[in-house]
Amino acid sequence: MGILPRITHVPSAVMSIRLLLQSTRRPTFEHAQWLSRRKRDIFRRYSSFSPLKASLIKNINIFSKSSKSRSLPLPLYKPEAGCGFADKTSILKAGQLSSVFESSDAETADIVLQNFELHENLVSEEEENSLLEEVEDYLEDLDYEYDHWDNAIHGYRETEKSQWSVKSQAVLRRIRQVAFSSGEQQLSLVHVLDLAQDGYIKPHVDSVKFCGSTITGVSLLSTAIMRLAKQNNPEHWVNVVLKPRSLYVIRDVVRYQFTHEILKDSESSFRGQRLPRARRISIICRNEPS
Ligand code: OGA
Ligand code: MN
Repeated sequence: MGILPRITHVPSAVMSIRLLLQSTRRPTFEHAQWLSRRKRDIFRRYSSFSPLKASLIKNINIFSKSSKSRSLPLPLYKPEAGCGFADKTSILKAGQLSSVFESSDAETADIVLQNFELHENLVSEEEENSLLEEVEDYLEDLDYEYDHWDNAIHGYRETEKSQWSVKSQAVLRRIRQVAFSSGEQQLSLVHVLDLAQDGYIKPHVDSVKFCGSTITGVSLLSTAIMRLAKQNNPEHWVNVVLKPRSLYVIRDVVRYQFTHEILKDSESSFRGQRLPRARRISIICRNEPS
């Protein structure tokens, strides 16, 4: 395990398909695991399949027919005590969110607030710097992906990481402790997503096949606006200002019935005020589908 560092850093699911189709590699155990991860990635991005998306996924299935990886159990994260909170952590609940929360209407705000949390300063500046240093090691070799019109994310590079420094492990433990209840089965791979200054995430729902009821992410480097909109009626929405070092938690109704997106810089405004966005890195943990 872990002997394919370059392969696991392939940034985009769509790019990966191309590489897979060109590849003449014998499917080793590691390769099968990698294929499985890429497939999961694609499913996660495209929760509702258009014919094109469906055909992309079909291609991958055909290619990786010999892969046994779906039956490999992913190692699960076991929660531990003593994760040490940063001093200034504040949990913003209904009533305290006014400076970072706006909505199309009160009813939508109510629904979202019951299934969404924002923890500001969950990560200290020092921890942010060391996390950035660590993920930069992986990301710096990758190009940002822009090329596919159908991709849910534009201007990004990403990795899924299982090995972390002791310092980062402490932060990840804190994130997991805040977002998940004890004993909850969590994906052990941590998703690191680097959005370029001109990158953005279109509205989507993470696939229910590969991710459970909770999605949590810490934002680093730049403030960004996350929009949550009712999937069947996007005129009902909320915007949340995600400051660097804040952690959002999306649960249940908001996770399943709302899309989430990260607005592009040119659309980033809050309460009528422009809120410029720069390069942003998110570190995302998810739980296992039930
Ligand atoms: C995703 C996603 C949100 C973020 O990768 O599916 O929605 O905070 N990311 O980067
Ligand atoms: Mn998502």
